[in-house]
Amino acid sequence: MDMHAPAAAAPAIIRRTDYRAPDWLVPDVALHFDLDPALTKVRARLSVTRNGDHDRLLRLDGDGLVPLEVKVDGRLLAQSEWHLEAGALIIALADVAHEVETLVELAPKSNSKLMGLYASGGLLCTQCEAEGFRRITFFPDRPDILSRCRVHMVADKARFPILLANGDPIEQGDEADGRHWATWNDPYPKPCYLFALVAGDLACNADHFVTMSGRDVQLGIWVKEADLPRTAHAMQALKDSMAWDERVYGREYDLDVFNIVAVADFNFGAMENKGLNIFNSRYILADPETATDIDYDGVEGVVAHEYFHNWSGNRVTCRDWFQLSLKEGFTVFRDQNFSADMGSHAVKRIEDVRILRDGQFPEDSGPLAHPVRPESYMEISNFYTATIYNKGAELIRMMALMLGPERFRAGTDLYFARHDGQAATCEDFVRAMEEGGEIDLSQFRLWYEQAGTPRVRALLSHDPVTRQVELTLEQSVPPTPGQPEKQPMAIPLRVALFDPESGTHHGDELLMLTQAEQRFSFPDFATAPILSINRGFSAPVIVDTNRSQGDLAFLSAHDDDPFARYEAMQQLMVNVLVGRIGGQTADEGAVIDAIRQTLTDPTLDPAFVAEAIRLPSEAYLGDQMRQVDPDAIHAAREALQRSIGAELEPLWRDVHAGLKANGFALSPAAKGARKLRNAALHYLVASGAADGPAIAFDQFSSADNMTERQAALGTLANGVSPERVAALDIFYNRYSADALTLDKWFQTQAFAFHPDTVDLVEELGRHKDFTLSNPNRVRALYGAFSGNQWAFHHRSGKGYRLVADCIIALDGLNPQTAARLVPPLGRWKRFDTERAALMQAELRRILAQPGLSKDVTEQARKSLD
Ligand code: ARG
Ligand code: ZN
Repeated sequence: MDMHAPAAAAPAIIRRTDYRAPDWLVPDVALHFDLDPALTKVRARLSVTRNGDHDRLLRLDGDGLVPLEVKVDGRLLAQSEWHLEAGALIIALADVAHEVETLVELAPKSNSKLMGLYASGGLLCTQCEAEGFRRITFFPDRPDILSRCRVHMVADKARFPILLANGDPIEQGDEADGRHWATWNDPYPKPCYLFALVAGDLACNADHFVTMSGRDVQLGIWVKEADLPRTAHAMQALKDSMAWDERVYGREYDLDVFNIVAVADFNFGAMENKGLNIFNSRYILADPETATDIDYDGVEGVVAHEYFHNWSGNRVTCRDWFQLSLKEGFTVFRDQNFSADMGSHAVKRIEDVRILRDGQFPEDSGPLAHPVRPESYMEISNFYTATIYNKGAELIRMMALMLGPERFRAGTDLYFARHDGQAATCEDFVRAMEEGGEIDLSQFRLWYEQAGTPRVRALLSHDPVTRQVELTLEQSVPPTPGQPEKQPMAIPLRVALFDPESGTHHGDELLMLTQAEQRFSFPDFATAPILSINRGFSAPVIVDTNRSQGDLAFLSAHDDDPFARYEAMQQLMVNVLVGRIGGQTADEGAVIDAIRQTLTDPTLDPAFVAEAIRLPSEAYLGDQMRQVDPDAIHAAREALQRSIGAELEPLWRDVHAGLKANGFALSPAAKGARKLRNAALHYLVASGAADGPAIAFDQFSSADNMTERQAALGTLANGVSPERVAALDIFYNRYSADALTLDKWFQTQAFAFHPDTVDLVEELGRHKDFTLSNPNRVRALYGAFSGNQWAFHHRSGKGYRLVADCIIALDGLNPQTAARLVPPLGRWKRFDTERAALMQAELRRILAQPGLSKDVTEQARKSLD
């Protein structure tokens, strides 16, 4: 053996095809928690039953646990009767059924990973998905083991007056020593990733909901006393979600209580634990003073998402983690449609497509690309991705489109009826759609298997003699890691052919593109029509067409499908910008005319207008290029923005002044007005008008809501005016005591198009209010910064170094959140050789750290490939 330190062993690869039914089942479990932040004792009593005829040992997963006692059927085992293997407790059992009891001790207050039982702001709470339960007690931690669970908690009554767990409260009482206890019982068998408990000094926004069968459900949103006034929107969203799921899917809530708890330190958005959802407080708390309209929508959408999981996730759960999109893709689809019903369908669809393009398309074209149903992983936490969630939702949406509403509902009814109480697979879902919806989805299944965003080339031709129109569609799916070759997919494309004279079409058609190349003919066109394709974004693909700028301008004014109209406008802008980035003198006149036309069309919803007139993001422009040139993209986009601002300056002034509201409202109309007003302010300032910063500062100072205040601050943060410094100081002084709002102060500066953003981010990383222990704060600074293409890809490589430093420092504390900062560094193949080398060097530096987590190791290794 040589004397060098061994290279860290490669983390084991878990493969989908290795799935095997569990050896032992756990129909019942009783948990006893003696809660204390410094030392918590957990006693677990598991009834275990042998699953099938075999003589394999019982294996109970554990992560960082030491058994203080192990009993089988009441008898204390000697040390020689059990052993630990990779953290798991291994016991030999003789019969088909036994009772196994273990005792462990935990230190929640030093749990910085925020997985398992941890302390946050004086509370004790849990996070188990995906594999956190094994940090609480020894248990077969896999989603296909469903157990009925009873929880008994004991804690100091003064510090932890409220004790919550899954299911229904059964009993509670006081002990002599100032402690008290509570017992909860969850009658629904569930996987252990849905386990939760909370202990703390919490106040409750209490309400109730009567279900469609007339059952009265007690609703509680639990927060720190001071935050109670900020819970009204979440409560309304919860009641609206409950009613919506009954109306749209026929799904009723099934327990007598439904509780939500907000915590300050949380690794992601929220968690659907049965009957006890635990949320990142940013998705619960909202008031006009501190929350933007986007924040309000986030609260509504995430409350709905977690509630909907009660059926799509809890009643029907996942067999293994490769099936994650079974619950996440479907539930995102459900929450998207709920939010659309609560507001504007057109605007919601545009927003969701933007999220997909900004977050999922880059993933699908990079080194971390994976199918919606992955084939392998090292660390499952790394697979809570835009592909699983957002592309997964698009797959459900395509099936819903192909089936139509009635047959889709028949399919989901069959799915819930057939799999209620089971741990199911994506294949089970597709089969229910096929049988309930009477459709053949054989080829469609490829969407679950093949990674990469399909490209569709659409060429329209017209023969004036035969009056025939021919649409030629070609598809290709790019190679992705482990999948060099792809088969043609089944791609549903909604199309319409517009008559340029009348500005109308003869109806929208759904074309199924199933071959590599396919032709569709349309008879009887006297003149060449204009193609509107992928209407409503019917498929998550990239479409290339031979449409002229004139065709796009026509569609941007006439298309009756709001998404296609928005898309035409975006394409018009992309063409000009990509042309200019490539050194051509592309004419911006068509863009300015289209914006003028859109702004002055009185029939349009202001929220839609605000979306339509917005320039494509720098990252999206980068995706359109063979090699991303961040500086050229930034310069071209800024220049176009300035021209649009200057050419239409009087209009921007009118819109901005005209949409000033008289008092705050949260109606869709009021939100739309604020959105357009902020867009107008943005262009007005971009125009370079001398009074731009003063107008922005005035909006910043006089706004009665965070939507307008933050937009003004963001606009000022991009420039170098004296107003920038003043506004940032005022904002800081006003909100430094409110963590969620202070996050906006960090985020605004990290997002800013300012020449010194890289240096500012470095300074902010040393700010007294910056901390690595709060994931929201980390994301507000480094997450936002790595999404700021121009600043992050600063030629010096300093941006890469800052993010890598953060990953290295955070990895020892919270590997999950650290790993989520890696992907932007893995985009190096898309950049010039100098930047690519700098990015690779940072990835190597990360990988050279001793004791690096499995989470970061997986992401950084794959990113170097
Ligand atoms: N199931 C949760 C949700 O989507 C998210 C859990 C995320 N877990 C993780 N390890 N990243 O609502
Ligand atoms: Zn979810």
